[in-house]
Amino acid sequence: MGDRTTDPATTVRSVHDVDMPSLELLDIDAGQDPRGQLRGQAADAWIVRGAFGYLIFRYDDVTAVLRDKRWHNAVAKLPEMMGITDADFLGNRRVSILATEGDMHTRLRRLVAKAFSPRSADRLRPFMREVVNDLVDQVAPSGRADIATDICEPYPIPIICELLGAPREDWQLFSRWAEDVLRIFNATVLDELDVIKKAQSELDEYTRGLIAARRNDPRDDLITDLIAAEEEGDRLTTDELVMMVNAVIVGGTDTTRNQLGCAVGLLTDHPDQWRLLEQNPEIAPNAVEELMRYFGAVRGAGRFASEDIVYRDLLFPAGTFVFPSLSTANFDSAVFDGPDTLDITREPVKQHPQMTFGSGIHYCLGASLARAELQEALPILARRMPDLAVDGAIEWKPRTTAIFGPAHLPVSFTPGR
Ligand code: HEM
Repeated sequence: MGDRTTDPATTVRSVHDVDMPSLELLDIDAGQDPRGQLRGQAADAWIVRGAFGYLIFRYDDVTAVLRDKRWHNAVAKLPEMMGITDADFLGNRRVSILATEGDMHTRLRRLVAKAFSPRSADRLRPFMREVVNDLVDQVAPSGRADIATDICEPYPIPIICELLGAPREDWQLFSRWAEDVLRIFNATVLDELDVIKKAQSELDEYTRGLIAARRNDPRDDLITDLIAAEEEGDRLTTDELVMMVNAVIVGGTDTTRNQLGCAVGLLTDHPDQWRLLEQNPEIAPNAVEELMRYFGAVRGAGRFASEDIVYRDLLFPAGTFVFPSLSTANFDSAVFDGPDTLDITREPVKQHPQMTFGSGIHYCLGASLARAELQEALPILARRMPDLAVDGAIEWKPRTTAIFGPAHLPVSFTPGR
């Protein structure tokens, strides 16, 4: 881990034996935004002991862990960590790209890179505008909307369908499967296993059908691209194809919808910046980075030590779990100037990007697509929903939800353009 690795002359102690503050995330009062409390902890310590492992707070440490390939993605150990023993569930689990490491992971990313390039995402921008405008059309005359359910929830689904080449009438199915499969990351996973299993098997079956159809009838879509993807004679197997298409459906829907909800929710507290976006749609790219920095829908990642790792004079024995906190890294004043100030005109600094898409080898594969979706949606919403104000109680998803955002965000606005 670069210059932070210990000096051989220093005594190395096991992280398990060191005195450090502990944090029980679940102790934080329900309804309270945990970001404030975490940020407070981050000011005092770079690492604290949590319920399942160690939380890592600061930007440099978070990036160091995420970029060090000896730390493997905790997704692979999730069932074990959460105490899942259901044989049926464990037997049918698909190895996701998130749980793949080393040469296998490099190979997968190389094969699919082109399909997820900024250029591929740009091709969908006109369609994204169409989708947002259609959604706003439905609420515009009344001057009232629930941003979460009327706009954010449906928004990413037609885009993912269009990207994949899936029929439009399947929109609703996708939405439910994505949300249900993602319950695997919730702290309440044990209660939700049956729902997750059902969604996973339905999604698998559906995906296999789509792939079979495209093999016979190639089109201009992602599935056809993935079937054709080839590097030096190498190709994705059918199982890998199913896994990648699942990753797009699961990774590309609930994340984007919640991120859009977080962004709009945040802007309801900053009407001046909503107006700024309305009047200057060209600032959307900077606005998206800043809104994701300030309020990311994905707040953390999980890793485990695949071997003994020494970092900052601490030994992390093989198997130790760590949780790099993306949301506190995003508020690190050593990296971001005045991090507590939301400024959607803030110029991103190339060496220190906002962390909500992660870092290192598992850096979000769909980042270009997600950026395009947010960059297209936000200025249209700002233009067509002037004077946006919260109109009722915002209901946030439970704190235990891994992909965080508003469940309900009632607003009023001046019916307009
Ligand atoms: C604003 C929306 C999004 C956010 C905040 C987000 C966030 C993330 C983060 C933090 C990771 C890394 C997790 C880790 O290191 O453990 C990740 C990985 C991933 N994301 Fe996204 N994501 C978003 C949208 C998308 C979209 C639109 C897609 C697909 C079209 C997608 C597909 C993936 C995939 C496949 C991975 C795994 C990459 C790998 O393991 O190499 N994501 N995402």
